[in-house]
Amino acid sequence: MHTPFTQTTIRLPAGGELAAFEAGHGPPLLCVHGFPLDHSMWQGQLAGLANRFRVVAPDLRGFGRSHGSPAVTSLDDFVADLCDLLDQLAITEPVTLCGLSMGGYIAFRFAARAPQRLKGLILCDTRAAADTADVITNRHRMVELVRKGGVATVADAMHSKLFATDSYVEQPTVAESTRRVMMRSRPEAVAAALLAMAARPDATPQLASLPMPSLWLCGSEDSITPPAEMQANAGLAPDSRFVEISDAGHMAPLEQPSLVNECIASFMTLLEHR
Ligand code: MLT
Repeated sequence: MHTPFTQTTIRLPAGGELAAFEAGHGPPLLCVHGFPLDHSMWQGQLAGLANRFRVVAPDLRGFGRSHGSPAVTSLDDFVADLCDLLDQLAITEPVTLCGLSMGGYIAFRFAARAPQRLKGLILCDTRAAADTADVITNRHRMVELVRKGGVATVADAMHSKLFATDSYVEQPTVAESTRRVMMRSRPEAVAAALLAMAARPDATPQLASLPMPSLWLCGSEDSITPPAEMQANAGLAPDSRFVEISDAGHMAPLEQPSLVNECIASFMTLLEHR
């Protein structure tokens, strides 16, 4: 897919650089990628929504073209970076934040820390619950492996779970380029993100008083964050809608960009008319 977007690089107060990719004009949509990926997972949204919205897709600290910063110690460091990015892009109006999986965990922290900067939340293929004890143990094991041997173990463990079965066959280029993105991730950023995810609080208690409307999207074949769990999470938020995206796994926005874009556009249009 050929996407006419521009790259902006900002200096972070913590040190280092944060890169963000932008397309279009209009109400701002801030797209936060999953683990261990980069902005390119939003290529379908940068290309397909730029005719109506200002789509901003950063590379989170340490990932993609963002480098030179101290490693994050919690997901709140990512939130602080996103607020700095919005400030430096002079986006003062509330944004719609769209996060996938780890991006969704970050979205919950953003909603807790800076709700006034949010017009709406779009949660893609994510969960509100904190990690279970087993998941935490596994993340710590992964951190050791990444520190000793690089990111291949994490990339291998994740790659076979990311897409719907048919997507691997019908969209081999997308699946392969996602593997390449994972393999390019810096080990220190991957380790820091694993520890930050393991330490994140449970966002479930936050849902009943979520002050902004939310849209919950989940691939019908998502085995990492299954639709039933997301639908149950969505049911706890007061002003929410849940949509299952057919023929998609954990990477619904990348696997089914047109369907996902339709959902995002109609949600954002509704928000504009409130
Ligand atoms: C992601 O896609 O961001 C990951 O599945 C998040 C996680 O490891 O919990």
